[in-house]
Amino acid sequence: MQILSRPLANPTGRRRVSRPIVPPVLRLIGRTPLVTLHFQPENLKIHAKVEFTNPSGSIKDRLALHLLTHARENGLLQPDSVILECSSGNTGISLAMVGAALGHRVKILMSDTASVERRHLITHFGAELHLFKTTRGYVTGIELAEKMAAEDPRYFLTRQFANPLNAEDHELHTGREILAQTRGRVDAFVSGYGTGGTLHGVSLALRAANPDVQIVAMEPAEAAMLSGEMPCCHSIEGVAGGFVPPLLHGVKIDAREPVRSADASAMARRLAREFGLCVGPSSGANVVAALRTAARLPRNANVVTILCDRADRYCSTRLFNPPTAEFESRTDL
Ligand SMILES: Cc1ncc(COP(=O)(O)O)c(C=O)c1O
Repeated sequence: MQILSRPLANPTGRRRVSRPIVPPVLRLIGRTPLVTLHFQPENLKIHAKVEFTNPSGSIKDRLALHLLTHARENGLLQPDSVILECSSGNTGISLAMVGAALGHRVKILMSDTASVERRHLITHFGAELHLFKTTRGYVTGIELAEKMAAEDPRYFLTRQFANPLNAEDHELHTGREILAQTRGRVDAFVSGYGTGGTLHGVSLALRAANPDVQIVAMEPAEAAMLSGEMPCCHSIEGVAGGFVPPLLHGVKIDAREPVRSADASAMARRLAREFGLCVGPSSGANVVAALRTAARLPRNANVVTILCDRADRYCSTRLFNPPTAEFESRTDL
């Protein structure tokens, strides 16, 4: 990774050489653990890729590093460039963090429905935040970003929803890490989709190793768009943002698992209490879908899913303040 160059100290008097200096926080991105979770009384086992151990707390650190490294290596970022992206929060936080470490200005467009913790984290990293109102999910923010970039050439659009580097990153890194951690034995991979980058990229890596691997798309039951339903209100932040993303077009999906928002939150709470895993609702939803997948496969099948982000960015949401009935209910697998 070519990031910055600084001459090395030269105690011997020999000719100075330049070596890339990588900001230390960027070395903490990726190479995340894969943990095995045994669920009782269901008597089911799944494997979960712990993406919340990335330094800003979500899987999106990988994407931010890949996109900005590529942009720098290809001369796409000038000193006065402003990185611009529309995000439900996690990509915004990750771009703000990587941008800060690399010394770039970042501006994030975010729906005013995203959790307030995400807004604080983005500005804490020194990025600018522009909130917008929407009834059309991400589409409003994407259009706004394109309009701003058309009017001011200093904006550099990372275009997470359309950029093939998004899927490439998950193919080259997340997917290959999963293969190494399972010794190439994956029977099913289960993930929700926001941009579709994770599902697309990981499925390419896993299918290259095992053409029979099952790719399962988790989607909110209230907005099961792959199942032909209209996008509607759900509370699984980060996924199903109002349209089927272009990065999912042409991806072979073997099964769809709709998960209710209430079940996603209930499972996120259960993961905290029974496993000590402090994760957000989309991780809970992924685990519900992964357990259903494990239940229909042979007992020794390896089912892998993703724990996308940490719970502490949802303190102000229904995850921590559920209606009593939801809090007391058990997850409906
Ligand atoms: C919490 C959370 N879960 C899942 C995803 C989906 O990941 P992808 O955009 O790769 O489909 C995102 C994306 O922002 C997210 O923020």
